[in-house]
Amino acid sequence: MSMMLRPMRRGDVDAVAAMEVILFGAEAWSPELLATEMTADPASRYYIVADDDGVITGYGGLLAQRGGQADVLTLAVAAHRWGEGIGGALLDRLLTEAARRGCSEVFLEVRVDNDRAQRLYRRRGFTDIGIRRGYYQPSGTDALVMRRISDPPAGPRKKHLAGRHRGRRVK
Ligand SMILES: CC(C)(COP(=O)(O)OP(=O)(O)OC[C@H]1O[C@@H](n2cnc3c(N)ncnc32)[C@H](O)[C@@H]1OP(=O)(O)O)[C@@H](O)C(=O)NCCC(=O)NCCS
Repeated sequence: MSMMLRPMRRGDVDAVAAMEVILFGAEAWSPELLATEMTADPASRYYIVADDDGVITGYGGLLAQRGGQADVLTLAVAAHRWGEGIGGALLDRLLTEAARRGCSEVFLEVRVDNDRAQRLYRRRGFTDIGIRRGYYQPSGTDALVMRRISDPPAGPRKKHLAGRHRGRRVK
């Protein structure tokens, strides 16, 4: 397989947006939203794609300020490529980047009914910390909030500030 992970570019937006619609339906991020994220401050964002000979097979995004907390904003793989390790590889890259930025805590939200993704996150050390009722719109599905701590906290925990997580944005 000639797949590589690389930074997401503006030219990837249409392909990623098409995957969003297939994988997330009414909760998909729009091309405009994706383009906005692409131009957001690179010091706070990190978006990558899995590129298989020019075909995007998956993508992931991280919100991570240096020395603060990090949030996995999105993670997805084309359905016909599930189970090949692409999702795990993307997540590992996001976690490596979070660590590189000195973020010892990584948070994410995942649908309570998304067993497959939850299993992936648990295997990477994420644990459940709460439920956000009706988080995903327009379906109103609850989100499970998960957290991964890579190092013992040095001081008082920072409050989990509201980030730009999947589902918080309404089209
Ligand atoms: C969740 C998702 C990103 C996983 O991507 P993937 O490329 O299939 O992931 P991987 O092949 O790396 O497998 C990762 C884990 O998924 C789980 N998994 C793999 N195959 C599975 C199966 N048939 N059934 C259930 N879980 C499975 C395993 O825990 C696996 O970890 P392991 O390899 O250590 O055993 C992908 O299914 C996806 O895009 N889903 C739709 C979008 C989505 O839900 N994104 C998450 C939003 S929070």
